[in-house]
Amino acid sequence: MRTLAVYPGSFDPPTNGHLDIIERSSRVFSRVIVAVAVNLRKNAFFTPAERVRMLKRLTSTMANVEVTSFRGLLVDFARVQEAHILVRGIRAISDFEYEYQMAHMNRKLDQEIDTVIMMTGERHSAISSNIVKEIAQFGGKIDDLVPPLVRDILISKLKGAKRR
Ligand code: PNS
Repeated sequence: MRTLAVYPGSFDPPTNGHLDIIERSSRVFSRVIVAVAVNLRKNAFFTPAERVRMLKRLTSTMANVEVTSFRGLLVDFARVQEAHILVRGIRAISDFEYEYQMAHMNRKLDQEIDTVIMMTGERHSAISSNIVKEIAQFGGKIDDLVPPLVRDILISKLKGAKRR
């Protein structure tokens, strides 16, 4: 059976935790679409185009992984892609409630769509995009938290923002 999964998120920026989920889901599913949400609610640091660009470079060696962005409801995006599986990562039990609510809500919106939850690898369980940005903003070391590409782009964008 060929399976297509969508891995949605804000990815602002992508972290080692996100990459862990992408790598592992690319081994479980025959195709994975990493979908960057153009989320109107959140005040993003990186533009959707920047996030897509970073993710494309980070997944360039994974033949069955594509990266794109989407607006609006996730279930509508998944339907257009003809995907019936959503992948989400859970780092700790504190993530569970939010994921539980989203999974149920998405299934209420479209009964054809199921959410598959993966446990983020232990090594990455304390990483979040917000924490990474905060540490980097105050000059802390983020080498173990994000890939070198993201570290360099984040640091250079923060420097640019400070100058302005
Ligand atoms: O990385 P995040 O911020 O936890 O990802 C959340 C995301 C983007 C998956 C969620 O906010 C989403 O699906 N947004 C699209 C709008 C939508 O469908 N909302 C209803 C979800 S129940």
